[in-house]
Amino acid sequence: MRKKIVAGNWKMNLDYSEGLALFSEITNMVKDEVTGKQQAVVCSPFIHLHSLVQMAKGYDKVSVGAQNAHQAESGAYTGEVSAKMLKSIGVEYVILGHSERRQYFHESNELLAKKTDTALANGLKPIFCIGETLEERNSEIHFQVIKDQLVEGLFHLSAEQFTKIVIAYEPVWAIGTGLTATADQAQEIHAFIRAEIAAKYDQQIANDTTILYGGSCNPKNAPELFAQPDIDGGLIGGASLKSRDFVDILKVFNA
Ligand code: PGA
Repeated sequence: MRKKIVAGNWKMNLDYSEGLALFSEITNMVKDEVTGKQQAVVCSPFIHLHSLVQMAKGYDKVSVGAQNAHQAESGAYTGEVSAKMLKSIGVEYVILGHSERRQYFHESNELLAKKTDTALANGLKPIFCIGETLEERNSEIHFQVIKDQLVEGLFHLSAEQFTKIVIAYEPVWAIGTGLTATADQAQEIHAFIRAEIAAKYDQQIANDTTILYGGSCNPKNAPELFAQPDIDGGLIGGASLKSRDFVDILKVFNA
């Protein structure tokens, strides 16, 4: 059975003490309220990561992730952080290819393929984001865009490597806009992604791949989205900055 995951993406929000306070609320609520096998992953800015990893000890339902990592192992890349550095402080996950990074930092599928290789080589689990813009959906090329993102970003991986990947489908038009894909729209794409994985690897690997939905996900719409057969959780932006909302979304998977 594939893992159910609710990942929070704090983006560039919260100073150090605010981040620690929020994380402490989240771990306490998870301990008291989460009763299933679901996993929370909190993806904070780099400055919080070391402390969050320490604070997460003893809370096996809460993992810590970064929001980016460089494609090179090390070297003269002023201002960057490597996968090896993240691993060395106990970070488990890393978001790669978020649409904001594709848009503002010009991250291409080709670059993201390299980032994925480096993250995997250093023992990090990528949460690999894909999704179409509104323009692409309106031009009805969204399936092709998503297929290209999969093929160019991930399908060079061996089957063994691919089992470490979590995919997040995030329609760009739904991120931070309050516009959510309907459960049917999201399910349609998630089923497509799973079918592409089955065609490239095999049905077992496709069945075992966790595919998250992201884009204005909140405690109100999460139950319907997560009830879809191919939606295995969410990547949560805005609502992950409120402990109550984030944990309520996580609790949709309570046993
Ligand atoms: P949102 O962001 O939940 O604020 O729409 C989701 C994301 O960007 O991962």
